Amino acid sequence: MLQESLEQGRTLTDAALDRLIPLETQHPVSIHKAMRHSVFAGGKRLRPVLCMQAARMIAGSLPKKIEELGAALEMLHTYSLIHDDLPALDNDDLRRGRPTCHKVFGEALAILAGDALQTQAYEVLARLECPPEARVRIIEEIARGTGTLDGMIGGQVVDLEAEHTQPTAEMLEYIHRAKTAALITASLVSGAIYAGAKDAEVRKLRAFGQSIGLAFQIVDDVLDVTQSSEQLGKTAGKDTAAQKATYPALFGIEESLRKADSLVSAALEELGSFGERAEPLKELARYLVERKK
Ligand code: IPE
Ligand code: IPE
Ligand code: MG
Ligand code: MG
Ligand code: MG
Repeated sequence: MLQESLEQGRTLTDAALDRLIPLETQHPVSIHKAMRHSVFAGGKRLRPVLCMQAARMIAGSLPKKIEELGAALEMLHTYSLIHDDLPALDNDDLRRGRPTCHKVFGEALAILAGDALQTQAYEVLARLECPPEARVRIIEEIARGTGTLDGMIGGQVVDLEAEHTQPTAEMLEYIHRAKTAALITASLVSGAIYAGAKDAEVRKLRAFGQSIGLAFQIVDDVLDVTQSSEQLGKTAGKDTAAQKATYPALFGIEESLRKADSLVSAALEELGSFGERAEPLKELARYLVERKK
């Protein structure tokens, strides 16, 4: 069931992305090449998959055209990766098994490709085929999740400012919740809203997302220490070299993994009232901490 939801989500998302992102032959070609270079490089598509499975849990089956929402989430995530890799941020050469966007196209185009994926995402969101009120709530949810107040950009700012410092556990948790858990939460919540979820259902999915999102970033930190660059498709050992504020740096690998596990256990409890229907999301939650890339 896990492989099925991952594969189905990836296939649907990739097809939608291919439809929605301008072709490499469209003028001005350089920006569209740069966007496609980073988008079609073998990402796991986890945010779209979580979005789709949240929607399926609420509606009982996949709502029509949910892949457009998934594609918009993946555009935003890919924009964050392109900018995260820039020399001014993490200065990475390898992403999704390929040279990073700025390595191939230069910094100016990489910055613009990130910007372009962000604006493209909101164009897609504005056209979502769901009731207008749901559409507006989805746009707000995603904008907040990627914004400066407890959202992705806020987390990226504090992540950079915490380099070479000795962060407290509270600061570290803030960074991870904001830079990563917020978009993962917005993916689940927007999928649920698209499927017509009630407020109480949205609240449970929000709590689930906050926990698995934090666990996901803790595991990302651990994999940076324990895996090779070939395995990850991005430069391993980067966090230690850059003296990043990470869970393994503060707590060690064992304790970090224990924290990730207990976050996932807490997350699973949030879905108790959904019964059998929650099984795919529960499997995804376990996969987030067991993954090796
Ligand atoms: C990497 O995210 C960046 C983080 C927020 C940790 P993913 O591990 O989902 O990367 P892709 O999309 O599969 O490349
Ligand atoms: C990135 O965190 C989170 C984002 C918002 C992109 P990292 O800097 O740890 O992500 P990787 O390890 O480069 O994928
Ligand atoms: Mg970073
Ligand atoms: Mg990085
Ligand atoms: Mg990382």
